[in-house]
Amino acid sequence: MDKKLKIYLSFVYLISFSIFIILNYKYISEFNLINVIFLLIVIILVNNFSMFFNSMTEITTSMNLPVLIPAFVVLNPFWVGIIAAIGTIEYTAKNMKFVWYKFLFNRSVFFLAASTAALIFRVVRPILDGDSFPMLSILSAILIYFLINNTLVYIVINISREDVNKFSLLNYFRELSKNLITSYFIGLILLASYINFGKVFFLLIIVLLFIIKDFFYSRLQQMNSYTQIIESFLKVIDSKDHYTEGHCERVAEYTYHLCGEMNLSRAKSERIISIAKIHDIGKIYVDDDILRSSNKLTKQEYSDIKEHTQYGYELLKDIDILNNDLDIILYHHERWDGGGYPEGIKGDKIPVGARILAVCDSLDVMITGRSYKPPMTKEDIIEEFEKCAGKQFDPEIAKEMIKLIKKGFFDDSFKSKEKIREMELSYS
Ligand SMILES: [Fe+2]
Ligand SMILES: [Fe+2]
Repeated sequence: MDKKLKIYLSFVYLISFSIFIILNYKYISEFNLINVIFLLIVIILVNNFSMFFNSMTEITTSMNLPVLIPAFVVLNPFWVGIIAAIGTIEYTAKNMKFVWYKFLFNRSVFFLAASTAALIFRVVRPILDGDSFPMLSILSAILIYFLINNTLVYIVINISREDVNKFSLLNYFRELSKNLITSYFIGLILLASYINFGKVFFLLIIVLLFIIKDFFYSRLQQMNSYTQIIESFLKVIDSKDHYTEGHCERVAEYTYHLCGEMNLSRAKSERIISIAKIHDIGKIYVDDDILRSSNKLTKQEYSDIKEHTQYGYELLKDIDILNNDLDIILYHHERWDGGGYPEGIKGDKIPVGARILAVCDSLDVMITGRSYKPPMTKEDIIEEFEKCAGKQFDPEIAKEMIKLIKKGFFDDSFKSKEKIREMELSYS
C-alpha cells in the first residue's frame, strides 16, 4: 500500500474513532432499542435491494440517505452513525476479495458523515424550523452528509488510483448531486410517514418506491430500444436514399408540426413521428429500377410499388414494441373515401396515425415533385388540400394542415413560382 494512502486512511480512522468515543460518551444513555433495530434492518435491506436493482438496471441510486433522514430525527447522532456504518455493509461476492482496510474505511466514512450530519441537525433544528416540520434542518444535515462522505471518498480515489483521470472535485460533486435532490424529497416523504403513520406504513412507502423506480426505468428502457430500432431502420433507408432523398425524414418533420397543431398527446405524437421516419421501409423490397424510373409506370410496376405498405408491415411485425403502431405503416396509403390501398378501408376505420401520415406524405410529394411532375406552389398546395379534403384526406386533418401551411410553417420548403416555371420547362 502506498505511504500516502496509509497516512490518509489512518487519519480517517482516527477522526472517526474519536467522534465515536465522544458521541458514545455523550449519548449512550439516550437509547431507543426498537427504533435502532428497526431502522438498522431497513437500511440493510434497502442497501442490498438497491444493489440488486442497480445491477439489473445499471442506475446508481442509493436509498441509504433517504432512510437515514428519519433516523436524524428519531435517533441521536451516535446511533445514526452506527446504523449508517453497519447498515451499509454490502454483501461481498465470492469472486471479490475482501479488503479489510477498505471495509474499515467505508465504515468510518459512513459513521463520520452520518453522525456529524445528525449533530448538525440537532444544532440547527431549533433555529431553522422550530416546532414545524424540519425541512430546512434536514436539508442542512444531508448537505453535510453529502460533503463529508463524498470528499473523503474523492480523496481516497485520487490517492489510490494513479492511473485514473483526476477529475475535478467540482465535476465529481456535480454528477453525484443529481441524486441528492431526489434523496431529499424521498427522505422527507419517508420521515413524514414514519412520524405520522408508523413503521408499517413507512415500509409500504419504501416498497412502493422500489416498484415505481423499476416501473419508470423499464419504460425508459423501452423508449430507448424503440428509438434504437427506428434509428437502425433509418440507416437501412438511408442506404437506399437515392430514391427517397430524405423523403421519410421530411415527412416525419411535417408530422411533428401537424401532431402539434392537432394537440395530440406527447406519447402518441412521438410514436407517430417515429413511425413516419420509417413509413416507406417496405420500399427496400421494391425493385430499384421501378423506384427510379422516370417513365410512366406500367400497371404491374405500379402494383409492385403498392406492395411496400404490406412489405413494411411484414418486416417489422415481429418486433414487439413496434407492434401496436404498425397499422400506421400498413394503412398510410388508404384514402378517406375508401379508394386507397392495401385494403380500401375508409373514414374513421383508418387509424389516425395513418391519416396524419397520408396528409404529410402527400405534402412532401407536392413540395418536392416527382420525376413525372414538378413541385407545386404554396397556393396550389392549399388548393389541392381543400379539394381533396373528405375525398383523399380526413377533412379535419386536411384543415389542420392548411392552417399550418397558411401560418407559414413550411415556407422554407416551398419553391417560388419562377423556379417552378423553370422546372416545368425542363419536364416538358
Ligand atoms: Fe408510402
Ligand atoms: Fe412516403
